Amino acid sequence: MTEPINADVARIGPAALADLLGHWPAGDGPLYRLLAARIGRLADTAQLPVGLRLPPERELASALSVSRNTVAMAYQQLRDEGMADSRRGSGTWIAPHRTTPAGAHRANGAFTRLLESATLTADLTRADVECAPQVAAALADPAAVLTASQQREATSGPGYYPAGLPGLRAAIACLLAGQGLPTRAEEVIVTTGAQQALDLLVRCGLAPGQAAVVEDPTFPGMLDALQGAGIRPVGMRPGDAGQLAHVMATHRPGLAYLIPDHHNPSGLNMELGARQQVVALARAHPDTVFVDDQTLRDLPLSAAAPQPPLAALGMGLPNLVTVGSLSKTYWGGLRTGWIRAGEGAIARLAAAKAARDLGSPVHHQAVAAGLISLHNETIHSFRVTWLRPRYDALAAAMAEHLPQWRWTRPDGGLSIWAQLPGANGDSADAVALGARIASARIGRGQGDTTAFAQAALRRGVAVVPGRLLSPSARDSGGHIRLVFTQPPDVLTGAVKILAEVAAERGHL
Ligand SMILES: Cc1ncc(COP(=O)(O)O)c(C=O)c1O
Repeated sequence: MTEPINADVARIGPAALADLLGHWPAGDGPLYRLLAARIGRLADTAQLPVGLRLPPERELASALSVSRNTVAMAYQQLRDEGMADSRRGSGTWIAPHRTTPAGAHRANGAFTRLLESATLTADLTRADVECAPQVAAALADPAAVLTASQQREATSGPGYYPAGLPGLRAAIACLLAGQGLPTRAEEVIVTTGAQQALDLLVRCGLAPGQAAVVEDPTFPGMLDALQGAGIRPVGMRPGDAGQLAHVMATHRPGLAYLIPDHHNPSGLNMELGARQQVVALARAHPDTVFVDDQTLRDLPLSAAAPQPPLAALGMGLPNLVTVGSLSKTYWGGLRTGWIRAGEGAIARLAAAKAARDLGSPVHHQAVAAGLISLHNETIHSFRVTWLRPRYDALAAAMAEHLPQWRWTRPDGGLSIWAQLPGANGDSADAVALGARIASARIGRGQGDTTAFAQAALRRGVAVVPGRLLSPSARDSGGHIRLVFTQPPDVLTGAVKILAEVAAERGHL
């Protein structure tokens, strides 16, 4: 997990620097120049603040899976350009130079691709789906889903709807009712994607320093939201209601965040019995908000009937909140998500959203409402048909080329959570950005997944090391997340490359 940068930072560990570097080798020129250029850019934007000590050459080389000479030459280049200084025995640090302002918080390394452009053979970090044809058609011609009077209605009002366009709130309420969760429009707020929904829930429901329980691993965007708000994340095994009960008793978290349907990254569903136990916990802990993130719910890989949402099992419990999104079935570019909660909570969340953006764009909301009313089922069938061959291609290629890697067949979702043989996982120390120095545990042959991901990146394939999905920034099991949203042939080719990297690094 990428840690916030503050003025007291003295050192950066090799894995944390690897996160900040993103897809650095995807460019032209010698590796050391690409590395120096990227570090220089991070220093220029103050994401690597002046005075920050860079990792020792040998440790960074190991984390990036490059030769020590490459790092030594990159550091030399930075010194030549006045961006770094070094002294024997004291290492290399960022030198004072002209900087541009930068945020104190940067998105989790899993989102690197969204922040930069890089040419890759295959990007298996991308959990975004191609725009459904019905959505593309409606955006090109809104009259395909909106009557003239609906279009007039959308543009005749004030244009500012912090709780969401009334028509879309009603359409989402209908959608939820269809999933067995009776909902009134007043119990829905429209958000800019599920990400904003999570951010609002964290900022409205928790005070800095409070604890929030999340599954480990979990969706990295939630880790970002917690970190940005100064919340202490506490991890639990995904879907383990018994452990959740224990965490509730010991940490008294203000919020519990769960992905019971097609969990990101494992794709597994929470059993009905565990859901009932979670609802019982919500009843017993009325001061804790339980968030059921259903963003991946409509991406099944089997014909099994979906399990009920938590709020449907505990109807009327005010602390059971549901989050959803059109991003994974319709298209992420619609940036349309929602929260379902009690009417009072929705009013508070709307006030908070008003303070942030005064409401999401109205025209997209009108189109989304039209799409939900007219084409929801067609879009769902399209997406299931779109996804299946992608999953099949990845699963078949892994069975053929990486038979020793361990993973459980997902019930749905967009990714496989694979454990590398011989992987010891990543050390938390190695990612610490702050006073703690990285231990030298990262190393070729030790099998850490950060170095594996870096080696794969050098071959043009991007994957997310498990550490970035963990609230403790530690993945003791040695996993990587492989997203299967790319075309089948790209996925097959990517696995062949991953198998070559695995063979070189002893993960077979
Ligand atoms: C579980 C989960 N929640 C939320 C999101 C964010 O979704 P959105 O694009 O709607 O902001 C994602 C995206 O991958 C996700 O996997």
